[in-house]
Amino acid sequence: MYRNHPLAAHIRQLRHKPYFRPSLYGCIVLLSVYVLYHTTHPQSSSSIDFPTSNVYQPPVEVSEEVWVERANHVKLAFLHAYHGYERYALPHDELKPLSGRYQDDFGGWGVTLFDSLDTMLLLDLKKEYERAIPYVEKAVFAMPEDDHARYFETVIRYLGGLLSAYAISNETVLLERADRLADKLDNVFNTPSGFPMFGVNPSSGAVSGIEIGVLAEMASLQMEYTMLAKATGKKRWWDRANTVIQALASANLKYTGGMLPIKWNLTTAQPHDVHLSVGAQADSAHEYLLKQFLLTARTDKTSLEMYLRATTHVIANLLYLSPTRHMLYVTDSDTSPFDARGKPSHVFEHLSCFFPGLLALGAHTLPLDDLKSLGINFEALGSESSFGHAGKAYRQLSQYNLKELHLWAAEGLAQTCWLTYADEPTGLGPDEIEMKTSKFSDGFLWMDAMDRWKASGARGIPPGVEDKVPDVYTEEDRIRGNGLRRDYAIKRKGYLLRPETIESLYLLWRITGDSKWRHRGWKIFEAIERHTKTPYGYASLRTVEIVPSLKDDEMPSYFLAETLKYLYLMFVSEDLVPLDKWVFNTEAHPFPVFAWTEEEKERFNI
Ligand SMILES: *[C@@H]1O[C@H](CO)[C@@H](O)[C@H](O)[C@H]1NC(C)=O
Ligand SMILES: *[C@@H]1O[C@H](CO)[C@@H](O)[C@H](O)[C@H]1NC(C)=O
Repeated sequence: MYRNHPLAAHIRQLRHKPYFRPSLYGCIVLLSVYVLYHTTHPQSSSSIDFPTSNVYQPPVEVSEEVWVERANHVKLAFLHAYHGYERYALPHDELKPLSGRYQDDFGGWGVTLFDSLDTMLLLDLKKEYERAIPYVEKAVFAMPEDDHARYFETVIRYLGGLLSAYAISNETVLLERADRLADKLDNVFNTPSGFPMFGVNPSSGAVSGIEIGVLAEMASLQMEYTMLAKATGKKRWWDRANTVIQALASANLKYTGGMLPIKWNLTTAQPHDVHLSVGAQADSAHEYLLKQFLLTARTDKTSLEMYLRATTHVIANLLYLSPTRHMLYVTDSDTSPFDARGKPSHVFEHLSCFFPGLLALGAHTLPLDDLKSLGINFEALGSESSFGHAGKAYRQLSQYNLKELHLWAAEGLAQTCWLTYADEPTGLGPDEIEMKTSKFSDGFLWMDAMDRWKASGARGIPPGVEDKVPDVYTEEDRIRGNGLRRDYAIKRKGYLLRPETIESLYLLWRITGDSKWRHRGWKIFEAIERHTKTPYGYASLRTVEIVPSLKDDEMPSYFLAETLKYLYLMFVSEDLVPLDKWVFNTEAHPFPVFAWTEEEKERFNI
């Protein structure tokens, strides 16, 4: 189904490059290993010896052909999950992996199929992709009268999946369906602010939701609508994205130091609370500030400035170190006009584990140590007249090389995300933990520790960034409640097959080239195979603390769209999705970076 699109050709070309380049000898060795492997391992997914319990061992370097094998294991995992879905759930939304039944929570139009399209193209699964296309052709996005579709989920999963697969394959029907779906959702924008409502019935056009919107749900559409405008040439889709960008940029953020809070009034386009987070209900809105800038070939400076404000506030006020193990974490907080730090909850969410990857992507792609080259005056971004108490954070961060600082924060946070996996007997991380704070202070701000480290000569690795050794609980430890030995208590025990930690490990591997991140990714994949696999697919875990695992009857579509895709991209030798040419939406659907033409700029009024 690939046509002669330059992007498809790019992917094809990469795929056919030899995996191993140093010498002809190397190629021959690799080829023999590869052939031998494939002739002796017809069922390689069952031949692997996955460890039964998690005992920490430092990674052993392996050759590139082992990584080729590992990527292939992920491909087999994808096929196991997708074939289970095709056989037992299609055309419904999601497979129930324990009972072999299905569920419909995302419109009932087959969300797993739409969410998997570009993964199939990247993994070169032509048969599955070709079987999926007729379902895309038939999709009319109809819904019974008393029901509604969640706008945000529909955009990131369906629209994102269609647009990404279109960018890779140039298959016209994918774009047509995306355009049709956006049409059917369009009533959500009938608000005075131009921020979307929560839900809509695509058949009747009836909208649902209250006057107060949630940040992530109202401000994670810019990439999809920009991409749709570029591909269809329709100004109205660009207008939808741009209205949201401009409304965010002109909101009054005095009380939150320039960072976007969670709740917003959809009538006035102004904040409705002062709660700050990079986790649930906020995450992808912060993500899209950077990614919108990257997608548009670095022209949307408004979004970039908002990204710099958000990350400056987070680094100065929401990053903490745990008291004993010095685990770096990001938490949420209610701020106030007089207190930038506010009241931190010290809860650390799995959802926040995308943030280290985002920081690393920013450090990799932006001239953070030379913002002047973009015409940005860093300190002026935090002008106290517009952003209340923000000034102090900008003065503090200006003392550092900002690129280095963002990357340190990324590495320290990713370290913690990984540690919460490696600390568990299953090797999988819990959905939410609460960090211990000392009796004498309400937590240790990372930047305070950084300032002390700097004042004492900045020797060695900065606080919170150093490698740590996991502390795996025994059953007895758990029952005796030796919980806080590890510096945190588990608040939500489940592992919901989520991608965020893996996403950050993937980005750190690509950006730093340090193979420890890739090895950690492999350990997590082994744990997924060992503890979540069922005869039908893969199942969320009820608790990460018990082996053998207790499973729930759920296999979210993001497991195929994100978790398995990032794992595959981490192990495969070629850089299939170069980070300077593609940008992932928040559901891991890659969109190609593009520049507006002069004609588009004029017509769209950019
Ligand atoms: C993509 O497909 C369209 C319509 O089928 C065609 O006109 C166009 O030339 C194709 N573009 C590329 C780059 O292959
Ligand atoms: C939203 O703002 C409008 C206009 O100021 C106000 O009348 C309304 O009460 C606000 N909504 C809520 C739920 O606070």
